Amino acid sequence: MRCVSRAGRMLVCSCNFITDKDIEETIIELLDEDCWQLIVPAKVYHAMQKRGRCCGCFPNVVDIIIRTTEQYHASRPSTDDQIFDFMTRLKQFHEENRRADLERRHKSHRAA
Ligand code: FES
Repeated sequence: MRCVSRAGRMLVCSCNFITDKDIEETIIELLDEDCWQLIVPAKVYHAMQKRGRCCGCFPNVVDIIIRTTEQYHASRPSTDDQIFDFMTRLKQFHEENRRADLERRHKSHRAA
């Protein structure tokens, strides 16, 4: 579910009432600590002292992580090669996680 508030913030996680801006700010704080770390939704939520409940928002959080990380590095003195390599690794990492998650859901659906 996505809702846009009057302040232009989009509600991303309805379980925890977390907006896109909350997530972006947390990602930037994490990148300020280590700009080359791989960030996953659980790490973002842990930093916000929240946790995934239904985790239905995680695919949107992954999109925000990729977009925010790309913008973060584009505005800093990283080389194009460094950014390209890192973004390739980040997207590949999230794609593998997404596939593993789908597989897990498929297996648990068959088992039920
Ligand atoms: S919508 Fe985010 S944990 Fe449920």
